[in-house]
Amino acid sequence: MSDKKLWSGRFNEPTDAFVEAFTASVEFDQRLYKYDIQGSIAHAKMLCQQGILTAAERDAIVSGLEQITETIEQGSFQWSVELEDVHMNVESALTTAIGDAGKKLHTGRSRNDQVATDIRLYMRDEIEIIRSEIKRLQLALLDLAEREAETILPGFTHLQTAQPITFGHHMMAWFEMLQRDRERLADCNKRVNIMPLGAAALAGTTYPIDRHYTAELLGFDRPSENSLDSVSDRDFAIEFSAAAALIMMHLSRFSEELIIWSSAQFGFVELSDSFCTGSSIMPQKKNPDVPELIRGKSGRIFGHLMALLTLMKGQPLAYNKDNQEDKEPLFDTVDNLKGSLKVFADMIPAISCRHDAMRSAAMQGFATATDLADYLVRKGLPFRDAHEVVGTAVAKCVEKGCDLADLELAELQEFSDSIEQDVFDYLTLEGSVAARDHIGGTAPNQVRAAIARARSTLN
Ligand code: ARG
Repeated sequence: MSDKKLWSGRFNEPTDAFVEAFTASVEFDQRLYKYDIQGSIAHAKMLCQQGILTAAERDAIVSGLEQITETIEQGSFQWSVELEDVHMNVESALTTAIGDAGKKLHTGRSRNDQVATDIRLYMRDEIEIIRSEIKRLQLALLDLAEREAETILPGFTHLQTAQPITFGHHMMAWFEMLQRDRERLADCNKRVNIMPLGAAALAGTTYPIDRHYTAELLGFDRPSENSLDSVSDRDFAIEFSAAAALIMMHLSRFSEELIIWSSAQFGFVELSDSFCTGSSIMPQKKNPDVPELIRGKSGRIFGHLMALLTLMKGQPLAYNKDNQEDKEPLFDTVDNLKGSLKVFADMIPAISCRHDAMRSAAMQGFATATDLADYLVRKGLPFRDAHEVVGTAVAKCVEKGCDLADLELAELQEFSDSIEQDVFDYLTLEGSVAARDHIGGTAPNQVRAAIARARSTLN
């Protein structure tokens, strides 16, 4: 064995070769190197401040770790499976580089509090990046909503034409969902940004450490309260994963709409060529691969949430090796979530709206039937009677194969003598959307006001 194990003192037999590879995590946890080193530097500074390390030892450790960072970043670091994980790889390289001072770095800590610290530092950074990607997507939606504030399309319930709405209003619905997603991550970060270091293996340490100082050096809000809790629970990762699942659920729904809307049957929008692909056999095809793939990726993110919950549920206090299994689902969640948000934020500005197709779809399917009922209510009919009258008028239109606005005044008057010439103001699409003129409504001026409020919250 080329590298002697850092914990080999009490062992007589070497580790079985397969077990060694099976239990190692270095292949995937090496991506935490930056945070591992950041944590170690802070730990060494604290140990020195407390008189546990000399200034010379601290300086040797800090510059040794900085050197290791460079080696890793240049790609010339020799990662070793025999050294199991990122923590022991870095520590062993440090000792090789600086000698005995390197062996003192692990004083007053354990890999158990170390790994919990690394993951939290990693997640804090990733949450920040993800939140800014969500914001970029939100800004793209605001621009699109502004551009299409007056564009009319049919709104659906049960995927059946319901009432006319504005495209801007529709985009602002997605904006709101993403706003909650971004807030959820900020809230999650409050529980991520707590420092486990100092919990050591599980019970704390006998050295006179100053956890407040280490927390301050690492930018944590505070040291954690309980050592057993700190090294064992991964609820913060589960919470993040749940927030990620919600974001993917939203992106998946949005994707589904873009897929439907860009079909020949709907033709409401055109996605830019750079976000679509062709077919190897059917020359006419332009497939919405990007939204389809995002819809598909939501599945694995939901799966990771279930994996993390299951990973945690059977574990007694405190640390168990089970927790090593938290990393791959977490990393895959972060990677795919960031990728999905990035591609969405890039795709939105390149959407073009087919105004005619949306308009003619809104003209069919009796989208203004509710407006006619509301009109009759204003003329004094009780709503239920008005509903009945309009239902009969719709049945007549179905028979004739036309829309409500295509009926002559005299024909409409057969259904109710309260109907007068002004009815046509309400049966138009513009009249219909403009009438929903209250906060949260689809009227273009309400959409513009909502966009203005959204811009000021984002800034
Ligand atoms: N690779 C381990 C993990 O990811 C680090 C902590 C190991 N601790 C231990 N006592 N084996 O959880």
